[in-house]
Amino acid sequence: MGHIRERACAKLNLTLNVLGKRPDGYHEMETVMQSVGLYDEVDITISDGLGIEVDISREDLPKGLHNLAGKAAKEFLDYVNRPEIGVKVYITKHIPDKAGMAGGSSDAAAVIRGLDRLLETKLSGEELLQICAKVGSDVAFCLYGGTCLARGRGERLLELTPMPECDIAIVKPDFSVSTPELFAALDAINLGKRPDTAGFLRALEAGELLKMASMFANVFEQALPDRERRVVEDVKRALIDSGALGTAMTGTGSAVFGVFDKLDDAAKARISSLGTVFFTKPV
Ligand code: C5P
Repeated sequence: MGHIRERACAKLNLTLNVLGKRPDGYHEMETVMQSVGLYDEVDITISDGLGIEVDISREDLPKGLHNLAGKAAKEFLDYVNRPEIGVKVYITKHIPDKAGMAGGSSDAAAVIRGLDRLLETKLSGEELLQICAKVGSDVAFCLYGGTCLARGRGERLLELTPMPECDIAIVKPDFSVSTPELFAALDAINLGKRPDTAGFLRALEAGELLKMASMFANVFEQALPDRERRVVEDVKRALIDSGALGTAMTGTGSAVFGVFDKLDDAAKARISSLGTVFFTKPV
């Protein structure tokens, strides 16, 4: 028996480029990912019974093996060949869903981390990453967090210099676009401007927050339907008007973030009027 509580942090894509479609149907990515201090709590308990149970604090989100956390528990137990182990997971949700913030992937990574500790399986980093890759493309990054360059499907990670200290406001518009549909829309357009990933990495290495912020970019913004793209552009403009150094949509959206040197209470109040808003920092 045993119990562990893991923090599952949200992520942002500071830059996101899609390099092309691969023969396996996935897309080749190049993205700088950053974890932030907004997190779900994931309680993992080894139970007497058989099977995997996943419950969650929000009625509208999937439970059991329909939840990515359930899939992660199954893949972990399969890998270590311990089918007799029963696992109960309870997720206290704080990260918004359908936001591009890897909420589900981060819960899944927390389950993999937690089970490795609880069962004292002591898997190598390589083995843990293999399990993550079976669950989803963003799970590998969520296992470690911090600041990383992710390539391939998103599972090939390079640890980077941590992002300089700053304040972050995240606005979650009401709409959501399905991830496969947005990838398909991206395949059908000629992309305009792409992120300058190499330039961004130089600014990060030098700790130049202002320069980094001027280079935040996500190619998925160009693939959004017109109405949704206008919503994102309006939020970005409002964040800049409130003093943001730079803004972008994260992942396949719909959350939009703005990075600030320092957010005072007056600016926070103004930004809060934009809708569902979260204030956080890099971790
Ligand atoms: O890997 P994951 O299940 O998170 O991906 C969800 C969907 O996003 C995939 O089914 C695929 O359509 C798309 N995807 C992609 N290329 C990636 C990551 C995701 O095409 N690198």
